[in-house]
Amino acid sequence: MTFENILISKENSILTLTINRPEKLNALNKALIQEMHDAMKEIEKDNEVRVVVITGSGAKAFVAGADISEFSDFSIEEGAQLAAQGQELLFNLIENFSKPVIAAVNGFALGGGLELAMACHFRVASDNAKMGLPEVSLGVIPGYGGTQRLPQLVGKGKAMELIMTAGMLTADEAKELKLVNYVVTQEELLAHCYSIAQKIIKNSPMAIRKAIKAVNANFQYGVNGYETEIKAFGYCFGTADFKEGTTAFLEKRKAVFAGE
Ligand code: COA
Repeated sequence: MTFENILISKENSILTLTINRPEKLNALNKALIQEMHDAMKEIEKDNEVRVVVITGSGAKAFVAGADISEFSDFSIEEGAQLAAQGQELLFNLIENFSKPVIAAVNGFALGGGLELAMACHFRVASDNAKMGLPEVSLGVIPGYGGTQRLPQLVGKGKAMELIMTAGMLTADEAKELKLVNYVVTQEELLAHCYSIAQKIIKNSPMAIRKAIKAVNANFQYGVNGYETEIKAFGYCFGTADFKEGTTAFLEKRKAVFAGE
C-alpha cells in the first residue's frame, strides 16, 4: 500500500498509521479521508494485523481538524454531504472496526482531529496534547460525530460546555474527564500504545471482534445491547478460538488463537 498523505508501518502484528501532512498540522482533507478509508479496508483484510495505532506526523499535532480551506465556500448541500461522507467513509468505519484501534494523540486534536480520536476504541495522549471541538468559533458545529461521541465519553454537561466554549483541554484535563486513558511523554507515546497492544494480542481476535460489536451496541439507537451481547456470547461457543482458549486453560498452557 502506498499513499500520499499517510504512512503505514507494521511490526509484531501492530500496524501504525501515521497521518502525514505535518505542514498543515495533519488537517483532514477529502483526499486524506479517502486514503484512510482505503487503508483501513486493506488493514481489515490483513490477517497479520491484530491492532492498529493511529497517530499524527510531527511533534505538534495529531490532527488540527478538518481542512478549513476546503469547505469555507460550501453550500448547505455540500456541507451536509461533507459530514455524511466523512462519517461513513472513516469515522463509523473506525468505530466499528473489527480490530482494536488506538489513537496515539501526539499533539493538537481539534475538531475533526478529536472526532477521529474519539472514533477510535480508546485514546492515549502525550503530555503536550491539546484537545477540543472549536467548530462553533468558526460558525459551524462538529460534523464528524463529535456531538454524539463527546457526550458518550465525558457526559452531556461537560460536552455541552466544551462545545459551546470551543475550549481546549490539556492532556491531564482530558484524562480527568476519561476522554483519554493515559497521559505519557511524547517520547513514550507509541511505546505505551504498543505495550497495551501486546496485551491485546495475547487474546482471541474473534472474541475481541465480538466484544467491540457488543460494546458499540450500547450506543446505537434502536439496538438492544444486551441482546447483541447474548447473541455474540453464544456465537463464541461455536468457534475455534473458544475451543482453543478453554482447552489451553484446562491443559495449563498458553492459547494459540487462529482468530476464528
Ligand atoms: N485546516 C486547514 N489548515 C490548517 C488547519 C485546519 N484545520 N489547522 C492548521 N492549518 C494550517 C495553517 O493554516 C497553517 O498553514 P500555512 O502555514 O500554510 O499558513 C499551518 O497549518 C500551521 O498552522 P498555524 O495556525 O500556523 O499553527 P499555530 O501553531 O499558530 O496554531 C492551531 C496551531 C492548531 C492552534 C491553529 O492551527 C488552529 O487553530 N487550527 C484550526 C483548528 C480548528 O479550528 N479546527 C477545527 C476545524 S473544523
